[in-house]
Amino acid sequence: MRTPIIAGNWKLNKTISESVALTTSLKASVADVNNVEIIVAPPFTALAAVNEVIAGSKIRLSAQDVYSEDSGAFTGEVSAPMLKDVGCEYVIIGHSERRQYFGETNESVNQKVKAALAHDLKPILCVGEQLQEREAGQTETIIEDHVTGGIAGLSSTELLSCVIAYEPVWAIGTGKTATPAQAQEVHSFIRGLLTKIYSADVASQLCIQYGGSVKPENASELMAQPDVDGALVGGASLEAESFAQIVKFG
Ligand code: 13P
Repeated sequence: MRTPIIAGNWKLNKTISESVALTTSLKASVADVNNVEIIVAPPFTALAAVNEVIAGSKIRLSAQDVYSEDSGAFTGEVSAPMLKDVGCEYVIIGHSERRQYFGETNESVNQKVKAALAHDLKPILCVGEQLQEREAGQTETIIEDHVTGGIAGLSSTELLSCVIAYEPVWAIGTGKTATPAQAQEVHSFIRGLLTKIYSADVASQLCIQYGGSVKPENASELMAQPDVDGALVGGASLEAESFAQIVKFG
Protein backbone atom coordinates (compact mmCIF):
# COMPACT_ATOMS: atom_id res chain seq x y z
CA MET A 1 0.00 0.00 0.00
CA ARG A 2 1.08 3.57 -0.69
CA THR A 3 1.76 5.74 2.35
CA PRO A 4 -0.12 9.05 2.02
CA ILE A 5 2.11 12.11 1.69
CA ILE A 6 0.79 15.49 2.86
CA ALA A 7 3.07 18.40 1.97
CA GLY A 8 2.78 22.10 2.76
CA ASN A 9 4.11 24.45 0.09
CA TRP A 10 4.58 27.78 1.86
CA LYS A 11 5.45 29.58 -1.39
CA LEU A 12 6.71 33.17 -0.87
CA ASN A 13 5.62 33.38 2.77
CA LYS A 14 7.15 33.37 6.27
CA THR A 15 10.24 34.97 7.73
CA ILE A 16 12.63 32.78 9.70
CA SER A 17 10.95 33.51 13.03
CA GLU A 18 7.48 32.95 11.56
CA SER A 19 8.68 29.68 10.03
CA VAL A 20 10.07 28.49 13.35
CA ALA A 21 6.83 29.39 15.15
CA LEU A 22 4.67 27.59 12.56
CA THR A 23 6.85 24.47 12.56
CA THR A 24 7.05 24.33 16.36
CA SER A 25 3.29 24.44 16.60
CA LEU A 26 2.84 21.92 13.77
CA LYS A 27 5.31 19.53 15.37
CA ALA A 28 3.22 19.45 18.55
CA SER A 29 -0.05 19.04 16.62
CA VAL A 30 1.11 16.05 14.56
CA ALA A 31 3.18 14.28 17.23
CA ASP A 32 0.68 11.43 17.46
CA VAL A 33 0.20 10.94 13.69
CA ASN A 34 1.42 7.68 12.18
CA ASN A 35 1.39 6.26 8.67
CA VAL A 36 1.40 9.65 6.95
CA GLU A 37 4.52 11.26 5.49
CA ILE A 38 4.42 14.94 6.51
CA ILE A 39 6.48 17.46 4.56
CA VAL A 40 6.98 21.21 4.88
CA ALA A 41 8.46 23.35 2.11
CA PRO A 42 9.51 26.73 3.57
CA PRO A 43 11.31 29.41 1.54
CA PHE A 44 15.07 28.86 1.06
CA THR A 45 15.95 31.39 3.78
CA ALA A 46 14.11 29.41 6.48
CA LEU A 47 15.23 25.87 5.55
CA ALA A 48 18.10 25.70 8.06
CA ALA A 49 16.02 27.01 10.97
CA VAL A 50 13.06 24.73 10.18
CA ASN A 51 15.42 21.77 9.89
CA GLU A 52 16.52 22.35 13.48
CA VAL A 53 12.92 22.45 14.72
CA ILE A 54 11.90 19.20 12.98
CA ALA A 55 14.94 17.23 14.23
CA GLY A 56 13.73 14.02 15.82
CA SER A 57 10.16 14.48 14.54
CA LYS A 58 8.31 12.81 11.66
CA ILE A 59 8.21 16.03 9.64
CA ARG A 60 10.38 16.04 6.52
CA LEU A 61 11.95 19.05 4.81
CA SER A 62 11.46 20.11 1.19
CA ALA A 63 12.65 23.03 -0.91
CA GLN A 64 10.36 24.74 -3.43
CA ASP A 65 12.79 24.64 -6.37
CA VAL A 66 16.33 23.63 -7.30
CA TYR A 67 18.76 24.48 -10.09
CA SER A 68 20.00 21.80 -12.46
CA GLU A 69 23.74 22.57 -12.07
CA ASP A 70 25.65 21.67 -8.91
CA SER A 71 27.75 24.85 -8.73
CA GLY A 72 29.20 27.64 -10.86
CA ALA A 73 28.39 31.08 -12.20
CA PHE A 74 24.59 30.95 -11.87
CA THR A 75 23.77 33.99 -9.73
CA GLY A 76 20.74 33.57 -7.52
CA GLU A 77 20.34 29.82 -7.90
CA VAL A 78 20.47 27.04 -5.27
CA SER A 79 21.72 23.55 -6.14
CA ALA A 80 20.76 20.02 -5.13
CA PRO A 81 23.96 19.46 -3.07
CA MET A 82 23.19 22.68 -1.18
CA LEU A 83 19.63 21.54 -0.45
CA LYS A 84 20.89 18.17 0.71
CA ASP A 85 23.42 19.96 2.92
CA VAL A 86 20.71 22.05 4.62
CA GLY A 87 18.64 18.95 5.42
CA CYS A 88 16.17 18.62 2.55
CA GLU A 89 14.83 15.22 1.65
CA TYR A 90 12.39 16.47 -1.01
CA VAL A 91 12.22 19.27 -3.56
CA ILE A 92 9.18 20.63 -5.42
CA ILE A 93 9.92 20.89 -9.15
CA GLY A 94 7.87 22.37 -11.99
CA HIS A 95 5.22 24.08 -9.89
CA SER A 96 2.73 25.86 -12.16
CA GLU A 97 3.81 29.22 -10.70
CA ARG A 98 7.39 28.47 -11.83
CA ARG A 99 6.10 27.43 -15.27
CA GLN A 100 3.84 30.52 -15.52
CA TYR A 101 6.01 33.30 -14.09
CA PHE A 102 9.59 32.04 -14.40
CA GLY A 103 9.68 30.35 -17.79
CA GLU A 104 10.03 26.78 -16.52
CA THR A 105 9.65 24.26 -19.36
CA ASN A 106 9.40 20.47 -19.49
CA GLU A 107 13.08 20.43 -20.47
CA SER A 108 14.25 22.52 -17.48
CA VAL A 109 11.94 20.55 -15.20
CA ASN A 110 13.43 17.27 -16.45
CA GLN A 111 16.99 18.55 -15.88
CA LYS A 112 16.08 19.61 -12.35
CA VAL A 113 14.44 16.23 -11.62
CA LYS A 114 17.62 14.47 -12.75
CA ALA A 115 19.84 16.82 -10.70
CA ALA A 116 17.73 16.20 -7.60
CA LEU A 117 17.83 12.41 -8.05
CA ALA A 118 21.59 12.49 -8.61
CA HIS A 119 21.95 13.95 -5.12
CA ASP A 120 19.44 11.71 -3.41
CA LEU A 121 16.68 14.32 -3.18
CA LYS A 122 13.14 13.17 -3.92
CA PRO A 123 11.44 15.34 -6.56
CA ILE A 124 7.79 16.34 -6.13
CA LEU A 125 7.02 16.84 -9.81
CA CYS A 126 4.05 19.16 -10.38
CA VAL A 127 1.80 18.82 -13.41
CA GLY A 128 -1.52 20.46 -14.26
CA GLU A 129 -3.69 22.03 -16.91
CA GLN A 130 -4.94 25.61 -17.10
CA LEU A 131 -8.66 26.43 -17.18
CA GLN A 132 -8.79 27.17 -20.91
CA GLU A 133 -6.97 23.89 -21.61
CA ARG A 134 -9.53 21.96 -19.57
CA GLU A 135 -12.39 23.78 -21.29
CA ALA A 136 -10.86 22.96 -24.68
CA GLY A 137 -10.80 19.26 -23.77
CA GLN A 138 -6.98 19.19 -23.62
CA THR A 139 -6.51 18.07 -20.02
CA GLU A 140 -5.13 14.61 -20.83
CA THR A 141 -2.84 15.95 -23.58
CA ILE A 142 -1.35 18.53 -21.22
CA ILE A 143 -0.95 16.09 -18.34
CA GLU A 144 0.70 13.52 -20.61
CA ASP A 145 3.06 16.23 -21.89
CA HIS A 146 4.00 17.40 -18.37
CA VAL A 147 4.42 13.87 -17.00
CA THR A 148 6.38 12.38 -19.91
CA GLY A 149 8.48 15.55 -20.25
CA GLY A 150 9.27 15.70 -16.55
CA ILE A 151 10.26 12.05 -16.13
CA ALA A 152 11.98 11.56 -19.50
CA GLY A 153 14.94 9.21 -19.23
CA LEU A 154 14.26 8.03 -15.66
CA SER A 155 14.67 4.36 -14.72
CA SER A 156 11.85 2.75 -12.79
CA THR A 157 13.94 2.96 -9.60
CA GLU A 158 14.44 6.68 -10.19
CA LEU A 159 10.73 7.16 -10.89
CA LEU A 160 9.88 5.50 -7.60
CA SER A 161 11.98 8.11 -5.76
CA CYS A 162 9.62 10.75 -7.21
CA VAL A 163 6.20 11.95 -6.16
CA ILE A 164 3.85 13.37 -8.81
CA ALA A 165 1.56 16.21 -7.75
CA TYR A 166 -1.49 16.87 -9.93
CA GLU A 167 -2.35 20.53 -9.48
CA PRO A 168 -4.99 21.90 -11.86
CA VAL A 169 -3.94 25.54 -12.29
CA TRP A 170 -7.56 26.75 -12.06
CA ALA A 171 -7.81 25.25 -8.57
CA ILE A 172 -4.67 26.84 -7.12
CA GLY A 173 -5.37 29.66 -4.69
CA THR A 174 -8.86 30.12 -6.11
CA GLY A 175 -10.91 28.24 -3.53
CA LYS A 176 -12.20 26.19 -6.49
CA THR A 177 -11.16 22.63 -5.65
CA ALA A 178 -11.39 19.91 -8.27
CA THR A 179 -14.23 17.58 -7.35
CA PRO A 180 -13.07 14.22 -6.00
CA ALA A 181 -14.25 12.67 -9.28
CA GLN A 182 -12.28 15.17 -11.39
CA ALA A 183 -9.14 14.54 -9.33
CA GLN A 184 -9.58 10.75 -9.49
CA GLU A 185 -10.05 10.87 -13.28
CA VAL A 186 -6.70 12.61 -13.83
CA HIS A 187 -4.84 10.59 -11.18
CA SER A 188 -6.06 7.38 -12.77
CA PHE A 189 -5.01 8.71 -16.19
CA ILE A 190 -1.49 9.40 -14.83
CA ARG A 191 -1.25 5.91 -13.32
CA GLY A 192 -2.39 4.43 -16.64
CA LEU A 193 0.26 6.41 -18.46
CA LEU A 194 2.97 5.14 -16.08
CA THR A 195 1.67 1.60 -16.53
CA LYS A 196 2.24 1.97 -20.28
CA ILE A 197 5.71 3.54 -19.92
CA TYR A 198 6.96 1.36 -17.02
CA SER A 199 4.69 -1.39 -15.68
CA ALA A 200 1.55 -1.87 -13.60
CA ASP A 201 3.74 -2.82 -10.65
CA VAL A 202 5.79 0.39 -10.83
CA ALA A 203 2.71 2.55 -11.46
CA SER A 204 0.91 1.04 -8.48
CA GLN A 205 3.76 2.02 -6.14
CA LEU A 206 4.04 5.69 -7.15
CA CYS A 207 2.48 8.32 -4.89
CA ILE A 208 0.28 10.84 -6.73
CA GLN A 209 -0.73 13.91 -4.71
CA TYR A 210 -3.57 16.30 -5.47
CA GLY A 211 -3.07 20.04 -5.00
CA GLY A 212 -5.37 23.04 -5.44
CA SER A 213 -7.43 24.59 -2.65
CA VAL A 214 -7.11 21.58 -0.35
CA LYS A 215 -8.69 22.46 3.00
CA PRO A 216 -9.60 20.56 6.17
CA GLU A 217 -13.20 20.45 4.85
CA ASN A 218 -12.40 18.69 1.57
CA ALA A 219 -9.26 16.67 2.36
CA SER A 220 -10.93 13.44 3.42
CA GLU A 221 -13.20 13.13 0.36
CA LEU A 222 -10.27 13.80 -1.96
CA MET A 223 -8.06 11.33 -0.09
CA ALA A 224 -10.82 8.72 -0.25
CA GLN A 225 -10.33 8.44 -4.02
CA PRO A 226 -8.44 5.26 -4.93
CA ASP A 227 -5.66 7.03 -6.87
CA VAL A 228 -5.30 10.13 -4.67
CA ASP A 229 -2.37 9.38 -2.37
CA GLY A 230 -1.77 12.70 -0.70
CA ALA A 231 -2.08 16.44 -0.92
CA LEU A 232 0.16 19.37 -1.82
CA VAL A 233 -1.29 22.21 0.20
CA GLY A 234 -0.67 25.93 -0.29
CA GLY A 235 -2.75 28.44 1.67
CA ALA A 236 -4.04 26.00 4.29
CA SER A 237 -0.47 24.96 5.18
CA LEU A 238 0.35 28.45 6.48
CA GLU A 239 -1.52 27.81 9.75
CA ALA A 240 -0.49 24.86 11.93
CA GLU A 241 -4.05 24.02 12.89
CA SER A 242 -5.51 23.78 9.38
CA PHE A 243 -2.47 21.89 8.04
CA ALA A 244 -2.57 19.45 10.99
CA GLN A 245 -6.26 18.84 10.32
CA ILE A 246 -5.44 17.96 6.70
CA VAL A 247 -2.63 15.65 7.87
CA LYS A 248 -5.24 13.89 10.05
CA PHE A 249 -7.66 13.64 7.10
CA GLY A 250 -8.72 10.09 8.01
P1 13P B 1 -3.53 26.36 -2.60
O1 13P B 1 -3.70 25.21 -1.64
O2 13P B 1 -3.32 27.67 -1.94
O3 13P B 1 -4.63 26.37 -3.64
O4 13P B 1 -2.16 26.09 -3.41
C1 13P B 1 -1.95 24.83 -3.97
C2 13P B 1 -0.54 24.75 -4.43
O5 13P B 1 -0.14 25.40 -5.39
C3 13P B 1 0.39 23.89 -3.69
O6 13P B 1 1.59 23.72 -4.36
